[in-house]
This record gives sequence, C-alpha cells and structure tokens, in this order.
Amino acid sequence: MTRIFSGVKPTGHLTLGNYLGAIRRWTSVDQHRADALFCIVDLHALTVAHDPARVRRLTRQAATLLLASGLDPEQCTVFVQSHVDEHARLSYLLECVATDGEMRRMIQYKEKSAREGTRGRSVRLSLLTYPALMAADILAYGTDEVPVGDDQVQHVELSRDLAVRFNQHYGRTFVVPRATYPGVAARVMDLQDPTSKMGKSYESGAGIVYLLDEPDVVRRKVLRAVTDSGQDVVYDRAARPGVSNLLEILSACSGDAPEALSSSYRSYGALKKDTAEAVVEVLRPVQQRHRELVADPAYVERVLRSGAERARAAARPRVDAAHRAIGLLPPG
Ligand code: TYM
Repeated sequence: MTRIFSGVKPTGHLTLGNYLGAIRRWTSVDQHRADALFCIVDLHALTVAHDPARVRRLTRQAATLLLASGLDPEQCTVFVQSHVDEHARLSYLLECVATDGEMRRMIQYKEKSAREGTRGRSVRLSLLTYPALMAADILAYGTDEVPVGDDQVQHVELSRDLAVRFNQHYGRTFVVPRATYPGVAARVMDLQDPTSKMGKSYESGAGIVYLLDEPDVVRRKVLRAVTDSGQDVVYDRAARPGVSNLLEILSACSGDAPEALSSSYRSYGALKKDTAEAVVEVLRPVQQRHRELVADPAYVERVLRSGAERARAAARPRVDAAHRAIGLLPPG
C-alpha cells in the first residue's frame, strides 16, 4: 500500500494557505487511499526564536485543527513529531550524509536566516540542519508520497537526494519519496502582498486568513485584498498576481477552474465578494468541529498518544536498519 507522510509546523496559527495547499487534500483524498501519517512537527518550531508555552499551545491547536478538518484516526495516523524519538535519531544520521553546501543552498534557509538577522537575532544551527530533520520525517516511514504546497519542493528534492545517496553508500534502506501538489492553490499568496506566500510565521495578519478567523474577519480581509491596476478580471499569475490569487482561492473552494471563473466576472468587487463567501463556507464546518473538539481535550490527547505509538512502531525498524547500515553497533 502507498505510504503517505506530511506535516505542519506549529510556528503560528494555521492559515488558508496550509488548508488549501495541503490539509484539505490530506482529509478528502490522501487518508482514504493510502497508509497515511500526518505529523505536527514541533521540533521544527524550535529552529527560530520561540516561546515554549506558545509552541505547546500551537501544537495542541494544530492537532485539534487537523482533526477538525476531517483527519480520522481510524483512517490515518495523527501524531506529534517529538513524541517519536526516531525522527531525531535518523536526522543525525542524515546530517552525516548531507553536506553543508547543500543545506546552505535551501531557499527557506536563506530567507529565514535573513529574517532572523533583520530582527537582530542570531541564526540557530537547527535552522541550517532543518532539511535533514525533514528528510528524517519522510524517510523513517518508507514514504512514497509527500503531499505539500509548492514552497516545500526544494526540501522534498533534498530528501530524495539523501535517500539515494544513503542507499548507494550503505545499501538499500530508504524508499525514494516524491512530492505531490494540489492542482490549484499550491501557493496561496498574501492578500496584502500577492507576490509573497501567505505564511503563518509572518507578523502582519492583514493579508493572512487564519482557519479560526471569524466570518466577518475573513470577509474584511478578502474584501480589502490588494488587486492589480487593471480593471478586467484576468487569470495571469505573473502580470496580475492579486486577482489571480483570488481566482485561485475561489477555484480551490468552488471546484471551477480559475480561467473559467475569470470570464464570469466583470469587476474586482464581485470577485472579492464571492471569494469571501466561498472561504467563509469552506471554513464553517472546520470551525464548528474545532469548537466541539476544544471541549473534549481528552479525546485529542488520546488520538495523539495512540498516533505516536503507531508511528513509533512504523518508524523503528527502518531507523534501526539505517543505524546498522551506516556502521553503528546494535545495542545487544
Ligand atoms: P508548513 O508548516 O509551513 O506548511 C504546512 C503545509 O502547508 C503548505 N503551505 C501552503 N500551501 C499553499 N499556499 C501557502 N501559502 C502555503 N503555506 C504553507 C506547505 O507547503 C506544507 O505542505 N517544512 C514543512 C513541515 C514539514 C514537513 C515534513 C512537510 C516538516 N517535515 C515532512 C512534509 C513532510 C513546513 O514548514 O510546512
């Protein structure tokens, strides 16, 4: 059976980008067609300056939101990365097959280390080695497919390279994974700056729709979205990034292609209004279920505990095999 693995990092409140780019596919398709694991990657949240209580809170919230979005613990495994030691164990081994240059070339490293610098903060070493941990997340499970948004392309490529290299040097141990992307909304852009990704770790919330935003807040953010200087509604990501972003969001919510949608609108106003309502409707059931789950924290804890047990059992044999293959003496 196909093995799927993907994850979300608890560095901020989950956004519409996370939902349309990744989570919605996990719930509607991936968990039903494969042996799928979905992980709240809390170790990754420690790679930039953080507040311990906030990371704990966001980890619990992300788990609750994944379940509220429709991940079903009967169909898939939902767990927290730090609950399964195999991730950190394997990450170190992969650091021993990766190179320093390879890590420094990662676009996200360049962007995030520059951002830490402009805030007067030093760059944590773990930010540089982040892709080795991400590769460990994926490779520990013999993952075939990694459903992600397109900002993760380079990281998944590096995971592939590390799997191939490890296999060549030490014998076939890992499956070589491949990334899969959604047809539309693979990169939802910030509503105030449609040339940048809608990202949960950014500070200005005005261009970011959060999954837990109240309907009126969603409407306000979408209605105030920056559009382009033209008047006509055209789908062209390069020349018309603002309008194209709205068309993609509406397309992801409605199922109609962005090109087809563009011909049915004469004004930006009408497009914004329909997009706002479509987003409100997509988020409504998630928010409703989230309220129910918040009232039952013991259920979420149970899911995470049994998820971690299943994940541990799934990862351990391959990580043990990697230990042996690379030259470490097995413990008795
Ligand atoms: P993270 O937490 O930034 O994002 C989680 C998922 O949401 C997607 N995504 C988007 N998709 C479309 N438009 C956007 N604006 C947008 N913003 C985020 C991301 O592509 C991702 O699929 N490094 C990963 C977490 C990770 C991981 C893994 C993922 C750690 N280990 C192993 C897959 C497999 C990250 O920071 O995702």
